[in-house]
Amino acid sequence: MTTMKISVAEIRAMKSRGEKIAALTAYDFPMAKLLDEAGVPFLLVGDSVGMVVLGYPNTTHVTMAEIEHHLRAAARAKPNALLGADLPFKSYETISEAVANAKKLVAAGAEYVKAEGGCEILPQVKAIIAEGISFCGHLGMLPQHVLEEGGYKIKGKQEAEHQKLLDDAKALADAGAFAIVLELVTSPVAKEISEKISVPTIGIGSGPDCDGQILVTHDLTGSFPWFTPKFAKPLANCAGEIKKAVTTWKNSLTAV
Ligand code: KIV
Repeated sequence: MTTMKISVAEIRAMKSRGEKIAALTAYDFPMAKLLDEAGVPFLLVGDSVGMVVLGYPNTTHVTMAEIEHHLRAAARAKPNALLGADLPFKSYETISEAVANAKKLVAAGAEYVKAEGGCEILPQVKAIIAEGISFCGHLGMLPQHVLEEGGYKIKGKQEAEHQKLLDDAKALADAGAFAIVLELVTSPVAKEISEKISVPTIGIGSGPDCDGQILVTHDLTGSFPWFTPKFAKPLANCAGEIKKAVTTWKNSLTAV
């Protein structure tokens, strides 16, 4: 268990010390408390909640109200871990929307907000940071763009993509983002970005050389058995344990 409250500065300091940053999603009170007790320093109320909790086919259906609801629950755990939340799809299209919605997330308990995109959302990012709100970037495969992209595709294979990822990461870091999630970025490109920018990179499906790693907790714990991304190796079988306990209990009702 981390005994000190984790700040954005501490997450940045972990990169300077060469300490890997463990990050996980938490969408409610018990999970935020359990992950905090396990010593995870970086928690995210991700819009992945839409897929693994709310039953949507992708994250584009998630609303501000849904993120705020889950964020309030996670924040009630009062974690020592840094707790942040995703700005959902279409909630940061203009500067004023981005700032207003980032403030709503802060009011619901977020210590940082995350949004997907690079230079194309830079005015929104700068405006959020100018309000004193900590910002985490998200580059590579952007799940909120899955419909336009036609699937979850690895980024960084083509030279133009490689260059755009580098430019975007640098622009976000220069704008003041305290960390950047790299999702489904080729391992060599994720390594290069991690070496070239001063803020921590938090990888998901982007190889071992990022400064930290983030997973959807359901993928790590085997809690959403109907789909697991290739890069995630479940280290528990929570779905199986639930079914086993329920079956044992159900059978005990009929046993004489
Ligand atoms: O929505 C989410 O949970 C995320 C992380 C997996 C990076 O964005």
